[in-house]
Amino acid sequence: MKYRVSLISYGVLNLAVLLASGCGSSNAAASSQSAGAGISPKKFADAVHAVMMADRTVYASQVVTRLKKQDSPVKPDEYWQDETTGHAIPLPAQMFRMGAELVAEDPGAGFTYSLKSLWPLNSQHKPASDFEIEALTFLSKNPGENFYQEETLGGKKYFTAFYPDRAVAEACWSCHNDHPNKAEDYPEFKEGDVMGAVAVRVPLE
Ligand code: HEC
Repeated sequence: MKYRVSLISYGVLNLAVLLASGCGSSNAAASSQSAGAGISPKKFADAVHAVMMADRTVYASQVVTRLKKQDSPVKPDEYWQDETTGHAIPLPAQMFRMGAELVAEDPGAGFTYSLKSLWPLNSQHKPASDFEIEALTFLSKNPGENFYQEETLGGKKYFTAFYPDRAVAEACWSCHNDHPNKAEDYPEFKEGDVMGAVAVRVPLE
């Protein structure tokens, strides 16, 4: 728990530094505005995405992978909640989703985020609209690019950014390609493939 808290505070610190530097400290009017007032929704979305991906990478490489290598009873396990000894811990994607759920419950957060995929293992991650299908299809066809567009949801305007989530380590495709939840049309993922996306939504009004 201690480790998670320090990861989060590290992330918040990074973001605070970024927001402060984006506010234009030479402008007295801007500096008296609330944090973030001077930065574009795109910069804000890019910044929070950088922090969440850094935290996920650190959790995957420094916690999950290290535990797997150690002779430790504590193991990452998708079914960690059903495990009665209390020794199982969540997978990186589950950790990510639980964080996203907490942010969605926080009215002061000012944005929401989620994992999405055209080929989800967890049906919560499937595209919920034509807009999301368009964004995911764009990312699959244009490797290396992000997708940015304004979106209207329930009468409210959002700046929406989709960032590709790629198969960067062997563990990504080996676990996904062999997973019992995969659908009939599930691709055979390999290194570098776009497996899904991180979606960030920033309300514009
Ligand atoms: C040990 C198995 C395992 C590994 C390793 C793994 N994943 Fe996953 N991944 C899952 C599971 C299970 C889910 C669904 C989690 C949930 O319940 O939210 C998931 C969810 C996802 C999603 C959201 C769409 C979906 O399938 O539900 C993406 C995108 C994703 N993973 C990409 C990756 C990438 C990229 C890596 C490597 C950096 C990776 N995964 C490593 C098992 C794994």
